[in-house]
Amino acid sequence: MLNFIYSIKLKLLKIARRIARRIAINSLKANKGLWSELKNYQAKSKSTGCSWSDLWILYKTVRERKPKDILELGPGVSTLVMSYALMENEKEGFPGKITAMEELEKYLNMATSLQPDFLSKYVNFVLSPRIEDTFELFRGVRYQDVPDLPYDFIFVDGPHHHAPSDDAFVFDFDLIHIIKNTTNSIYAIIDYRLTTSYVFQTILGLDKAKFNSVLELCFVGPCSKDDLLQLNLEDISKTLLREARLFGNTKIKLK
Ligand SMILES: C[S@@+](CC[C@H](N)C(=O)[O-])C[C@H]1O[C@@H](n2cnc3c(N)ncnc32)[C@H](O)[C@@H]1O
Repeated sequence: MLNFIYSIKLKLLKIARRIARRIAINSLKANKGLWSELKNYQAKSKSTGCSWSDLWILYKTVRERKPKDILELGPGVSTLVMSYALMENEKEGFPGKITAMEELEKYLNMATSLQPDFLSKYVNFVLSPRIEDTFELFRGVRYQDVPDLPYDFIFVDGPHHHAPSDDAFVFDFDLIHIIKNTTNSIYAIIDYRLTTSYVFQTILGLDKAKFNSVLELCFVGPCSKDDLLQLNLEDISKTLLREARLFGNTKIKLK
């Protein structure tokens, strides 16, 4: 019975993903200028790229939220789509800029050269090594040299998950680093990256870190420093009392 329910769920998920993909393609196609730039970019790019639904959600988010300072972790065709949206925002009186972080020179050069001239002014590409960092009991990796700006939208699609010290599979730490060091309210999208999404669901709670299985994206925020500081590991015994079950297994939660 459980297997049957599971297989139905998987079928529905596949159908929902196909529908989301179709909606994304049609919506992007409706913007003729953007679509033509996209096709041109994709034909030349050797980057892993993004799914159609990622690209549509990124475009829509930038158009709707009108961010002023976007931090993009792992540039590529995602940079093109967001910078195109920024150009349209600017025409309506809402200027904005992207800081795009890359750890490998090869991909930085590719992203810079594929960025169309008329969209270059919206992006500052930054090359930076990947370093390790920790928050409470979590170990992650982040770009070392992220410029200190009041970011209001962050797209997490890098760096590589592996820790330089021992090659362990960890999570993408930058979002914590930014939230910790700003008073701004931040909204973020994490591209799939399950370890990263898991950490954010754990430290911010499900209401601030929503993973959408159809889109395979985690929507984080709006959140600020205070949301992080509410985590007090010495106090998890209080959480235990709230979650405690008289019989069976009790899930230990951090908040
Ligand atoms: C998931 S990719 C970023 C994709 C980007 N957002 C895009 O729209 O194309 C994350 C990082 O992987 C590296 N990368 C990109 N393409 C790659 C490839 N084809 N093979 C191995 N690594 C790649 C780059 O360092 C990049 O910053």
